[in-house]
Amino acid sequence: MDSLSRSGAFAESVDKRVERFTESISFDCKLYMHDIRASIAHAQMLAAQNVLTDDEAKNIESTLQAIGDEISSGTFVWKQELEDVHMNIEAALIERLGDVGRKLHTARSRNDQVVTDLRLWIRDKIDEIDSLVLQLQQAFVGRCERDAEVILPAYTHLQRAQPVLAPHVWLAYCEKFQRDRERLADCRKRVNICPLGSAAVAGTSMDIDRQLTAEQLGFEGIAANSIDVSSDRDFVLETAFCLTTIVLHLSGWAEEWILWSTSEFGFIELPQNFCTGSSIMPQKINPDVLELTRGKSARAVGHLQTLVTLVKGLPLAYNRDLQEDKPALFDLVETTIGCLQLAEPIVAGAQLNVKSIESRLSDGYLDATALMEFLMKQGKPQRTAHHLVGSIVRKAMEMQIPLEKLSLEDFQAIDPTLDSSVYDVLGAKNAVKALKSYGSSAPGEVAKQIDRWRTQLSVK
Ligand code: ARG
Repeated sequence: MDSLSRSGAFAESVDKRVERFTESISFDCKLYMHDIRASIAHAQMLAAQNVLTDDEAKNIESTLQAIGDEISSGTFVWKQELEDVHMNIEAALIERLGDVGRKLHTARSRNDQVVTDLRLWIRDKIDEIDSLVLQLQQAFVGRCERDAEVILPAYTHLQRAQPVLAPHVWLAYCEKFQRDRERLADCRKRVNICPLGSAAVAGTSMDIDRQLTAEQLGFEGIAANSIDVSSDRDFVLETAFCLTTIVLHLSGWAEEWILWSTSEFGFIELPQNFCTGSSIMPQKINPDVLELTRGKSARAVGHLQTLVTLVKGLPLAYNRDLQEDKPALFDLVETTIGCLQLAEPIVAGAQLNVKSIESRLSDGYLDATALMEFLMKQGKPQRTAHHLVGSIVRKAMEMQIPLEKLSLEDFQAIDPTLDSSVYDVLGAKNAVKALKSYGSSAPGEVAKQIDRWRTQLSVK
């Protein structure tokens, strides 16, 4: 069958090389279910408007459903010469229904059809990804009880900085993923607008009811400008940005846990069924899933770059360049889902090496900031306290001991006003206990945050 898009105006059939170069069926076949759904809604609307008879619409609906079943079961044969998913399905409909099938494309064009399908597809993927991110958050919150007492060194510049509670770290990830979900929800509002009926670019002179199709398809509104909506891909860019942010958050987490799982850090034991071995070094248990999570984030960044570049400088309205949005978006979605599906069991299944963490908690003078604030509370200006604690730390470094092992005389040699209450803030545990502010690692504050997240994410 010749392409449905080649009218009587063509005297010659298309060059095979052009056919291969311009096809999109090899990737947009992914949209088949959404294409069929949109076509059924369109046919029903045409019937409601008396453009089709009810019988014609019913025939179209059941035939489209049968085509959908064939595609799902793998018996449908896609044809490259029919270019894309839209024309493959429509051609099959025409093959089965003849002239009735030929009526379906009334008051629509592939330009509005492709964005309708894509918006429906993205909407589903946003919902799927949102629930995967939620499960990941729940895994982090689920760890909070188990790790409630564990103190970890927090790092800045990857240098030991201050002691924090492990749940405070888990909830840091929850916050990031919450913003990711909020961004997705906001993006979804703009995705969920119906372009159908915009036709090729100017709209149509046929008597259609765009509200009806939009409602049928669960869209929250209809696009108000037919020129805009057939050219618009910002919903794709926005989605891509939202997903890239998720993947970048995962990549940062993966990097952190790769480090933590080394014998140099020795903080965490990854679940072994999510680790891989080495073909030559029998002792190795490698964090390949985390490495690939970090590695696959490169794809996300690349796809976002592709999409942004794709729309640069395009005049209104539809241009064929836009077909290239799909390979990038599809792989980005698949990558995001793949990373999320593995992140959740790893977060839930990893074990903190509490002994190894504790044995080195006195390294790195994690309590120096607590000591500085202690001096400030005694009336020293911050700059002075900072300087004094610097001298105290230097002395301890020279003696190769933690601050709490310094004698009172050592402290008093640097600040004669100090008495034995200074020991109350020394050591990682005391330094954490001394914290107070909202959002800090203060045990009471962290407990409140855990409660809030438990309620918000329905974690038992
Ligand atoms: N395969 C095309 C795409 O994905 C469908 C729209 C084609 N429209 C056109 N006028 N050639 O963008």
